[in-house]
Amino acid sequence: MERTLVILKPCTIERGLIGEIISRFEKKGLKLAGMKMTWLTDELLSEHYAHLKEKSFFQRVKDAMRVCPVIVCCWEGLDAVEVVRAMAGKTNGRLAAPGTIRGDYSMSVQENIVHASDSLETAEIELKRFFKEEEIFDYTPSYIWSLYANDEI
Ligand code: TYD
Repeated sequence: MERTLVILKPCTIERGLIGEIISRFEKKGLKLAGMKMTWLTDELLSEHYAHLKEKSFFQRVKDAMRVCPVIVCCWEGLDAVEVVRAMAGKTNGRLAAPGTIRGDYSMSVQENIVHASDSLETAEIELKRFFKEEEIFDYTPSYIWSLYANDEI
């Protein structure tokens, strides 16, 4: 099973979409392995968005993540990284396909509802960045065999 990081961005908290977005991942069959509300620091965001540090919008993107607390989640499932990225959709909400989270709830590049790890390697780094080890939980939902065939997991 893979684990991946999702951050519900400040736009999602402010617009009252927390339940709707979490519900999408639950309905898909992903397992919530960790979740907390936290106010991110500029320092942590500089690390998180280091790949954008040469971009003109670097500070703007970081500031937008500090408008209010965010909700960080760890979702678990078979191929969870790819599944969650596909559910998030393209970065630009205006271009994201209808049916994806960004496609259904966002009109913006920056205010695009969620962050989702883009590879398994990144997911491992990002989960360590936002969660302590004891904040990620191991458990098996009783409905696991309604989600997967026994040769899939
Ligand atoms: P990025 O890691 O490229 O995209 P994604 O979130 O889809 O993995 O960019 C990180 C965030 O930076 C993105 O979610 C929104 C913001 N951003 C902008 O505001 N303008 C831009 O031109 C880009 C590329 C990103």
